Amino acid sequence: MIKENKKTVFSGVQPSGDLHLGNYLGAILQWAEMQDKYSCIFCVVDYHAITVRQDPAVLRDRIIETAKMYLAAGINPEKSVIFQQSDVSAHAELAWILNCSARIADLNKMTQFKEKAGKNQETVTVGLYDYPVLMAADILLYNTDAVPVGEDQIQHVELCRDLAQRFNRQFGETFKIPELVIKEEAARIMGLDDPAKKMSKSAASPANYIALADKPEEAAKKIIKAVTDSGKEIIFNKDNKPAISNLLTIYSLLSDESIKDLEKRYRGRGYGEFKEDLAEVVKEFLTDFQERLYKIKDSDVKDILRAGAEKVRPIAEETLSRVKERVGIK
Ligand code: AMP
Ligand code: TRP
Repeated sequence: MIKENKKTVFSGVQPSGDLHLGNYLGAILQWAEMQDKYSCIFCVVDYHAITVRQDPAVLRDRIIETAKMYLAAGINPEKSVIFQQSDVSAHAELAWILNCSARIADLNKMTQFKEKAGKNQETVTVGLYDYPVLMAADILLYNTDAVPVGEDQIQHVELCRDLAQRFNRQFGETFKIPELVIKEEAARIMGLDDPAKKMSKSAASPANYIALADKPEEAAKKIIKAVTDSGKEIIFNKDNKPAISNLLTIYSLLSDESIKDLEKRYRGRGYGEFKEDLAEVVKEFLTDFQERLYKIKDSDVKDILRAGAEKVRPIAEETLSRVKERVGIK
């Protein structure tokens, strides 16, 4: 499972809301594609989720639901590890040690914190502020080579690299420096109701996103209602046609057809026809996805998560032990 001669990939999603097409296309689909080439570890990052208020009963369900989404998206537990972050206590321990190298000035630059905290910078939790350090711990514990994420996580992976380099300089070679992996065309799927903002589970309106658990019929309606641009040509141009470019991106990634081919197919045809066809593609994708999703049993997911944590715990503990020695507490 932890393939000796293969490079290690680590990534995760928070079990904090409805996973949507942006998460799927920007992150999870990439993960599934990396499984044969790399030794992959995919985490349900529950410690990240509690940086904002969660209903305990809902969170408990969402942890299982998120792991099911990984499985339905094609993450194969025979090939890759799936586990729940809090099952490996080394994450919290390493985060603490890294906290003692991380600088306030660096965390103050994090745009995601600034966006999430908004005007409440003084009243949001310390956890939300510190979350990039926990994320760095997640990555560094497994001697990770590559971290596949969407665009909004670039800054956090860069902070992780900086922290690792600083630690290595101060205490001697300890951490492997991970590389960021971005699938350019999928890294930022935009909102259906506003192509200037990314698709997000915290969007004000559900018309913004297609949740992976949306009823296929409803999702199709969201595509039909999606905002379009002025003009009527179906061409990819992010600056002048952000809405159509976003829909073309979704179409291309779900159907595995190139954007060029789609542009050719829809030359001279209107937005209406294009959206009808895309609605059908989305409907079919969700129908298949959910057929797999609803077959997965909670008890099987719990077994997979438990086995996953057991597999990776020794790796995490070895790294933590090395770190403790370096800083002089062991
Ligand atoms: P989160 O929902 O913040 O836990 O994000 C999980 C993963 O999905 C991360 O790798 C994000 O970068 C990615 N992601 C979230 N929203 C989008 C989006 N709109 N487009 C592409 N990737 C996204
Ligand atoms: N912060 C990431 C997000 O919200 C999730 C995450 C936590 C993560 N730890 C990670 C992603 C480590 C990659 C590697 O999307």
